[in-house]
Amino acid sequence: MTDRTLPYNIEAVRADFPILQQEHHAGVPLIYLDNAASSQKPRQVIDAIDDYYRRYNANVHRGIHKLSEAATAAYEEARIKVKKFINAANKREVIYVRGTTEGINLVAQTWGRANLKSGDTVVLTQMEHHSNIVPWQMLAAEKGFTIRYVPVLPDGTLDMDVYDALLRDEPVKLVSVMYVSNVLGTVNPIAHMAKLAHDVGALMLVDGAQAVPHLPVDVQALDADFFTFSGHKMIGPTGSGILTLDGSTWNELPYKFEAGTPSIAEGIGLGAAVDYLTSIGMDKIRMHEEAITAYALDRLSEVPGLTLYGPDADQKGAVAAFSLKGIHAHDIAQLLDAEGIAVRAGHHCAMPLHDCLNIPATARASFYLYNTFAEVDALIDALYKAKKKFSV
Ligand SMILES: Cc1ncc(COP(=O)(O)O)c(C=O)c1O
Repeated sequence: MTDRTLPYNIEAVRADFPILQQEHHAGVPLIYLDNAASSQKPRQVIDAIDDYYRRYNANVHRGIHKLSEAATAAYEEARIKVKKFINAANKREVIYVRGTTEGINLVAQTWGRANLKSGDTVVLTQMEHHSNIVPWQMLAAEKGFTIRYVPVLPDGTLDMDVYDALLRDEPVKLVSVMYVSNVLGTVNPIAHMAKLAHDVGALMLVDGAQAVPHLPVDVQALDADFFTFSGHKMIGPTGSGILTLDGSTWNELPYKFEAGTPSIAEGIGLGAAVDYLTSIGMDKIRMHEEAITAYALDRLSEVPGLTLYGPDADQKGAVAAFSLKGIHAHDIAQLLDAEGIAVRAGHHCAMPLHDCLNIPATARASFYLYNTFAEVDALIDALYKAKKKFSV
């Protein structure tokens, strides 16, 4: 590894994440490369949650006592932080949910249930996460609409000719697509796809789970009608997430969709996560991730028998999915774990994609703002060790 100019002080960032200071096994440091599944949390987020429970725990929007007012203020301030972070037009369009899956289900069970019927078409893609397939399949079974899938080309991008043809030839009511693939890393042309969908009168839902943690996102520029993401993948708490709606279509936002006592600590923690990411700068985080992903792809491609999936680093998120000839992905993950390296193995809740790639499983290393080039080197060394052990 050569010396590099880094866009921010990664060692200072790492020092903020308590879990990164611990050993994975005795004498073996933790190398966390499973960020696409869930990210680690800095002390600033942990402290915000701790502070809420210790100093001003109370229900929101109800009480007129001081604690309730403080909790409501912090919870609503977090909503404004999120609004600014993704450039939503209005804080009323920012709905708290518990994560991407809940956001998509909420759209399916409200707008979808009211508007989709037999004879309509919903367009998904072959690279979708199950979270963006199952809710539509279940509703289609009940309502009788048709689901069509945009295929994935060999270079890991979507077949836009088929997308154009579907919009032209079918009565498409909704396009529901991921912004960034959790396996291939492909960054889909969302603004362009939304425009084409709108041109034929269809609405657009975007699964932003792998985008908001990693790229500067401007929901107004993308012009989707629904946009959802999870807090836990962006250094925030589990059980936090956001659905943004195009407010022009709805009354009484956001509370109409936030019944009951919400996840107050989680919302406040998400606000702290947004503060942390903003203080570094999403453009700088993207710069670092692009560099580390390019380095990882280069180094991985040196390993004999290794196949990489998805586009090049400049067109993809911080994900490297691969298979290694002669070793099952689960064995790779287990052997890496023994070296202190956490990666994911399996179909990553994207079975249609793995069917189309014609493989049962991949191993996936996914990076975030705190990962280092030295950690990529350790991954490569561990893969060579695994190959030796399996004599492949
Ligand atoms: C692209 C994508 N969509 C949806 C999800 C589901 O997110 P959650 O489990 O936070 O609801 C994930 C999680 O892995 C994902 O990667």
